[in-house]
Amino acid sequence: MIFSDRRTFGIDSNFISGGHLKKYLILIIIAVIFLYMAHTGHWQKTEMIRIGQVIMTQIPQNINYLINTSKCRIPDADPFSEDIIQYISQEKYEPCTKLGLLTYIDKSNGMVRLRINSSLLSEYSSMEITCCYSNITRINYVKAVDNEIKLTPCTPIQKEVNLTFPFVKVVCSNILKNVYTNVHATTLPTPRKVPDVSSEKKYSILLVGIDSMSKSNLRRTMPKTYQYLNQNYISLKGYNKIGDNTFPNLMALLTGYSVAQLQTFCSTKVKMNHCRFVWDAFRASGYTTAYAEDECAISTFNYDRPGFQDPPTDFYYHPYFLASETLPTKKRYDMTFCSGPETSAERMLNIAKDFVVSFKQVPNFGLFWMNSFSHDNVNLPSAMDEAVLGFLSDGDLVSSLHNTIVLVFSDHGFRFGDIRYTHSGWLEERLPFIYIYIPDDFRKRFPEKYSNFLVNTERLTTPYDVFNTFQDILEIGNSSYVAARSHGCPNCRSLFQELPENRTCHDVSIDQHWCTCNGHHYVNSNGTLVRLIGEFIVDEVNKLKNTFEEKWFCANFAVKKIKSAGMSDSYVNDRNETVRYFLVIVATDPKAIFEATVEVHSRNGVDEFRLLGDISRLDRYAEVTRCIKNGTLRKYCFCDGCIKSAIRYLIG
Ligand SMILES: *[C@@H]1O[C@H](CO)[C@@H](O)[C@H](O)[C@H]1NC(C)=O
Ligand SMILES: *[C@@H]1O[C@H](CO)[C@@H](O)[C@H](O)[C@H]1NC(C)=O
Ligand SMILES: *[C@@H]1O[C@H](CO)[C@@H](O)[C@H](O)[C@H]1NC(C)=O
Ligand SMILES: *[C@@H]1O[C@H](CO)[C@@H](O)[C@H](O)[C@H]1NC(C)=O
Ligand SMILES: *[C@@H]1O[C@H](CO)[C@@H](O)[C@H](O)[C@H]1NC(C)=O
Ligand SMILES: *[C@@H]1O[C@H](CO)[C@@H](O)[C@H](O)[C@H]1NC(C)=O
Ligand SMILES: *[C@@H]1O[C@H](CO)[C@@H](O)[C@H](O)[C@H]1NC(C)=O
Ligand SMILES: *[C@@H]1O[C@H](CO)[C@@H](O)[C@H](O)[C@H]1NC(C)=O
Ligand SMILES: *[C@@H]1O[C@H](CO)[C@@H](O)[C@H](O)[C@H]1NC(C)=O
Ligand SMILES: [Zn+2]
Repeated sequence: MIFSDRRTFGIDSNFISGGHLKKYLILIIIAVIFLYMAHTGHWQKTEMIRIGQVIMTQIPQNINYLINTSKCRIPDADPFSEDIIQYISQEKYEPCTKLGLLTYIDKSNGMVRLRINSSLLSEYSSMEITCCYSNITRINYVKAVDNEIKLTPCTPIQKEVNLTFPFVKVVCSNILKNVYTNVHATTLPTPRKVPDVSSEKKYSILLVGIDSMSKSNLRRTMPKTYQYLNQNYISLKGYNKIGDNTFPNLMALLTGYSVAQLQTFCSTKVKMNHCRFVWDAFRASGYTTAYAEDECAISTFNYDRPGFQDPPTDFYYHPYFLASETLPTKKRYDMTFCSGPETSAERMLNIAKDFVVSFKQVPNFGLFWMNSFSHDNVNLPSAMDEAVLGFLSDGDLVSSLHNTIVLVFSDHGFRFGDIRYTHSGWLEERLPFIYIYIPDDFRKRFPEKYSNFLVNTERLTTPYDVFNTFQDILEIGNSSYVAARSHGCPNCRSLFQELPENRTCHDVSIDQHWCTCNGHHYVNSNGTLVRLIGEFIVDEVNKLKNTFEEKWFCANFAVKKIKSAGMSDSYVNDRNETVRYFLVIVATDPKAIFEATVEVHSRNGVDEFRLLGDISRLDRYAEVTRCIKNGTLRKYCFCDGCIKSAIRYLIG
């Protein structure tokens, strides 16, 4: 439901204060005056009408910045700004079952048991219920190595059974039918680790990820979680993404490499075990490691990638999530909201807590990544606010974090659909949220590192800096460890070292296309130059497409309409060219929406164009690219049928 009357949005959200109303009113009046003047030619110096500039930059007292350094000002977008309010609504938490869970894992006295909650049996059936359990394991096939599981035959269970393996499926039935099916995960078998005799302090790392969550969307959809994080964690206000989607951003953080660099040793042709993940280094330093991700079809290392040959971490929960997704599922916006009687997200939060609590006495490193409630709908996270808050503030979890540095974060903001055609959508997409918890013990032991960290929260930061921070933590815990620096960003540093005040996106390997430091003014999208830039972008898309073997299946795109155009300030370079860049969103025929940043060098009426970074695709293109196998090509493709493809093939 879209709330047209914003007052109905909810009492918690204080976004529409009287001050805001006044502000918007003034803005609208000014915008109307300028529109009028522009229309009558007053401001029409070139073909650019500087309408957008008025709204964005002429009233400086209205602009707050997330960070305001000498080389980088990132606007602090209003999460409820006028341009996106029509796309905002609230989603309810819907439990996956009305009944309590009939089975659960009990860890006590050093034993791990699967138990039936007998007090619930009568709720499930008035007849007698019998249950059985199976061992779930991954199949090490050469081909489908990471995406197949198998079950042992179902063994009857009376009240409880001792477990020796990590993933278990339970089926309970009465004489007529199944009344309950579920899967559980636990931390078995316990890895054998040599006791750590070194005197150095090994800090644990907990990474909890929510895909596609911007700073603003966290504030907007998860106000309770946001408040808790603000009170107990510290935000990196100037954290900017470095690549388009999950893979480049998560890999920057986990390996320190750019996607181009990964090609040589971590291409899609080899299994992902060779990708030099930082968890390998933690494991080599005696840490117990874990990695889990929900929504298996789009998992970072499985979607268009070969997955892992061997489990990459001590605890690898992919088989568990595969098994959970074989249960009856309830989809919300195409994602597995419920698998069996539990939500995917709560499964994740439960195993994250189980892992952290179980290994609180030893160094541990865990990555728990959630897609299921945030990836495909910008509002659905509101359904999970309570659950995430409940996890973060859980007493058992919090009391297990005395030696743990925790990151609660995302990889990028929302990437598709209507919200992306707006100014706020542009900004949000590039600004994932990231909150870090530094335990007291660390603050006391390393006051200087901690004060550097606080300074750095006001600077431009990237996932590469986070990678370097992991290296710092490895070094703190092991004096013979030689810290590696991020290869993708040679100028990046650990967040425990003071970062230069004058950092630019260029300094830290952020392409202009993803950079939020400079802003832009909106200009008339009907201008000749803007039109030419649109043609240039679509040409680039077609050229890129034509480098692929499967190119015949894809239509050639043509410009249909420029949806919006932003322009930077300009400067004159040493060749006396006027240089500026444009951020252009172009709609094409056949139907697709692309966004790119193009640098324009102008001299003597001649304009030269250069692409700055990637081209983004803003429409949802899964449906129209089903004919294509190569995942990289899909972004530049529109499948338009066998006949047209055959003709293209024949005429070359
Ligand atoms: C940003 O920094 C500049 C230079 O320090 C200062 O003049 C300006 O007032 C700051 N703007 C805001 C909104 O803090
Ligand atoms: C068993 O179910 C009852 C009734 O729902 C519940 O109160 C109790 O907490 C459950 N026990 C466990 C260990 O989950
Ligand atoms: C569970 O399955 C795995 C792989 O098939 C096997 O190694 C393990 O021994 C099994 N455990 C039990 C208790 O069946
Ligand atoms: C589980 O293990 C404990 C300790 O070894 C043993 O006493 C108990 O009988 C076992 N329970 C079952 C159901 O096998
Ligand atoms: C320290 O790191 C090295 C590798 O860098 C590893 O071989 C060694 O076991 C580690 N020592 C400890 C105590 O973790
Ligand atoms: C940033 O400042 C440092 C000194 O603090 C200076 O050496 C460096 O050249 C500056 N970099 C840029 C890009 O201005
Ligand atoms: C751009 O041109 C189209 C058709 O020529 C027109 O409908 C539209 O109003 C124009 N937009 C602006 C912002 O001038
Ligand atoms: C730079 O270009 C401007 C106008 O485009 C011209 O007036 C000026 O003479 C040029 N300067 C140089 C050094 O070429
Ligand atoms: C997709 O195409 C690119 C460029 O041709 C190639 O490098 C890559 O290996 C291909 N990927 C797959 C999965 O075939
Ligand atoms: Zn993502």
